[in-house]
Amino acid sequence: MKKTRAVITGVEGWVPDYVLTNKELETMVETNDEWITSRTGIKERRILKGEGQGTSVIGTGAVKGLLEKTNTDPSEIDLIICATVTPDMPFPATANIIADNVGAKNSYSFDVSAACSGFLYALTMGSQFIETGMHKKVIIVGADKMSAIVDYTDRTTCIIFGDGGGAVLLEPTDEEVGVMDSLLHTDGSGAPFLHMKAGGSRKPATADTVAAREHFAYQEGSTVFKFAVTNMAEVSARIMAQNNLKSEDVAWLVPHQANKRIIDATANRMGIGPEKVMMNIEKYGNTTAGTLPLCLWDYESQLKKGDNIILAAFGGGFTWGSIYLKWGYDPK
Ligand code: UT7
Repeated sequence: MKKTRAVITGVEGWVPDYVLTNKELETMVETNDEWITSRTGIKERRILKGEGQGTSVIGTGAVKGLLEKTNTDPSEIDLIICATVTPDMPFPATANIIADNVGAKNSYSFDVSAACSGFLYALTMGSQFIETGMHKKVIIVGADKMSAIVDYTDRTTCIIFGDGGGAVLLEPTDEEVGVMDSLLHTDGSGAPFLHMKAGGSRKPATADTVAAREHFAYQEGSTVFKFAVTNMAEVSARIMAQNNLKSEDVAWLVPHQANKRIIDATANRMGIGPEKVMMNIEKYGNTTAGTLPLCLWDYESQLKKGDNIILAAFGGGFTWGSIYLKWGYDPK
């Protein structure tokens, strides 16, 4: 009997209009365009402005576009999973708000918290629900409003992050396309290097925690950088080896967009040239769970049915992983 796989049948992205350039950051902290560009590859990022605008705005924009594009009635959706570390509220889940906004009346929904690897975790989970036959249509959202937790007085973090995200539709197929393999990892001992100090149950919000600026993302950049380079390259090489893929078999690497130098190291280890690497870090920066679907969205018109694609990410937690997928459709 043929195996049922989960295949991506549509992708859509959503970014806010406001563009925060390196030039504008120069007026906010002691930095310059040359440093940011050469150390990260980022030129600008998007910022979601306005009172009461949370990550669900990004997710709703992406899912609405996805439903239209794929001619899908919202009532057909079985499940929505949203990967994010910047939920609208600690609870309820942002996925619930997105489901309500798009009219997905027959869907249940939940959030996944795995920082920059969140989209990989959620895509793996969603695929399992399809493969078992439990669900027919699952939407995976990766979205973050990082500007809500970025300290715009800290030049080591405020230059890399931005707001945005995307969504994919997963459906069953009996063809040899779709999610072929997944490798996911966690190392909780990495928490001291990338975390938010207050606002959780260990250290609830007080006037003191606000004054101490403890509700922002804290990162020891160079330590995270070293772990990211090693682990993203290793996991990408390993998923290729265990699926007997040589570099010439891989059509695209879709790397988490945290730093161009981490992306280059991963591509080198896989033996893949820059022409096969999806990159949009220069215009969106690091949107955490949003980077992978935003890349697929930007490059969708270049993807062909059967293309071997390797997704890879590393981030807070630490979390990291890789997914091997065969693209399911030709440009429409
Ligand atoms: O996506 C989630 C996971 N996160 C990541 O993957 C991020 C990984 N880390 C990075 O991408 C890099 O570590 C950063 C881009 C955050 C920082 O780059 P770096 O090359 O690791 O710089 P550094 O922190 O080692 O700092 C080098 C120097 C320091 O000056 P001194 O001590 O050598 O005088 C910093 O103070 O660069 C200075 N610096 C800056 N200078 C101008 C740090 N940030 C800036 C800045 N502008 N924005």
